[in-house]
Amino acid sequence: MKVLVVGSGGREHALCWAIQNSPLCDTLYCAPGNAGIADVAECVAIGAEDVDALVRFAQDNAIDFVVVGPEGPLVLGLVDKLTAIGIKAFGPSAAAAELEGSKGFMKDILAKYGVPTAAYGRFRDVEAAKDFVRKNGAPIVVKADGLAAGKGVTVARTEEEAFAAIDEALVEGRFGAAGAEVVVEEFLDGEEVSFFALCDGESALPLASAQDHKAVGDGDTGPNTGGMGAYSPAPALTPDLQERVMREIVEPTVKGMAAEGRPFKGVLFAGLMIGTDADGKPVPKTLEFNVRFGDPECQTLMMRLKSDALAALIAAADGQLKNIDLRWHDETALCVVMAAKGYPGDYVKNTEIKGFAAANAVEGVTVFHAGTKLSEGRVLSTGGRVLGVTAKAPTVAEAQKRAYQGVDALDWPDGFCRRDIGWRAVGR
Ligand code: AMP
Ligand code: GLY
Repeated sequence: MKVLVVGSGGREHALCWAIQNSPLCDTLYCAPGNAGIADVAECVAIGAEDVDALVRFAQDNAIDFVVVGPEGPLVLGLVDKLTAIGIKAFGPSAAAAELEGSKGFMKDILAKYGVPTAAYGRFRDVEAAKDFVRKNGAPIVVKADGLAAGKGVTVARTEEEAFAAIDEALVEGRFGAAGAEVVVEEFLDGEEVSFFALCDGESALPLASAQDHKAVGDGDTGPNTGGMGAYSPAPALTPDLQERVMREIVEPTVKGMAAEGRPFKGVLFAGLMIGTDADGKPVPKTLEFNVRFGDPECQTLMMRLKSDALAALIAAADGQLKNIDLRWHDETALCVVMAAKGYPGDYVKNTEIKGFAAANAVEGVTVFHAGTKLSEGRVLSTGGRVLGVTAKAPTVAEAQKRAYQGVDALDWPDGFCRRDIGWRAVGR
């Protein structure tokens, strides 16, 4: 098969790395890709959101299967346009991608189909939103409805903070059209975990759990980022809880979306809060859905997956997940993100990174690229999150040790990373 992966991050490097190992894959393209992806796929200079150019490329090159990494092109209808001309693709239609594209839509679906989540209201009117805050009190959470590059959520400790977040979105227009409506919701306490399931429109197949580290600094301090590291599995999601998440959250959502005439195909990424009930028993609730793999969670999932990733993604697109049985390595995979100094604020660009051979030589380590380009044989940083040093090992402590050995083997004075990725699981 000729396969095209869309995107340029660590997630897409991990997807390409897994897909090129599939006996089904003859030729692998990635648009636009990066310096690391260029080792495993042919990079094509088309942006991930240039939907029409991507469709043209797929048609001109007789691509058999397209795997869409990020949410942007999904919400823009890339899969719909490919499907319309007979090209098979992994990922939801634009109508199904609304689960991530509109938090208000997502909350209404959860409410309608009885999926556990925080109590909420949807508002376009400033005073109505503030009344909801006054009635429910702080802490409380304010979310811009649309895609806001991960910056649209405020966990407000006081009512004043919530009012400010409402003003920012509805009055000052900080998120543009994405913030013309807000969701205000109950604050949920507990431990956050992510869970991934493949969906084929009718049924769902569990993948695995993972835990992300969103804050930029050690000890979960400082501003939020797209994710500074992750590991899989997340011990907080016991097999019992995973079974409940499938039954109470993933399956009713897939059934509900089908009933709405928006069958969900692709990967459902459930952000979960594991709280406790009055008796101290764990209760999983949905914080959010994403309609794509997490980055850097995907790097850890691909490293643990033993089965053919491409075959599984095709089965999801074909409505054939019932015939798929996935096998996993029992080991833990842990990914440490290296970012450019300054991230998530203004950061330096075009700085040289060396030492890849030494880092990849550490037992169990693969360095995935997230924001790099090749320039006259040198690897330069181009983004905020630049590398994902990922290690597999029998224990999370050993995976952590190996990943940091990989980090220390790299030579990049302009980069930094958190030094405590995996701390919860290592401490357990
Ligand atoms: P979201 O993009 O909706 O996942 O929100 C980003 C982050 O905000 C989540 O990863 C949580 O850490 C936090 N968050 C979102 N909703 C809630 C909630 N209802 N209660 C507590 N924390 C939340
Ligand atoms: N790492 C979180 C995300 O991909 O949304």
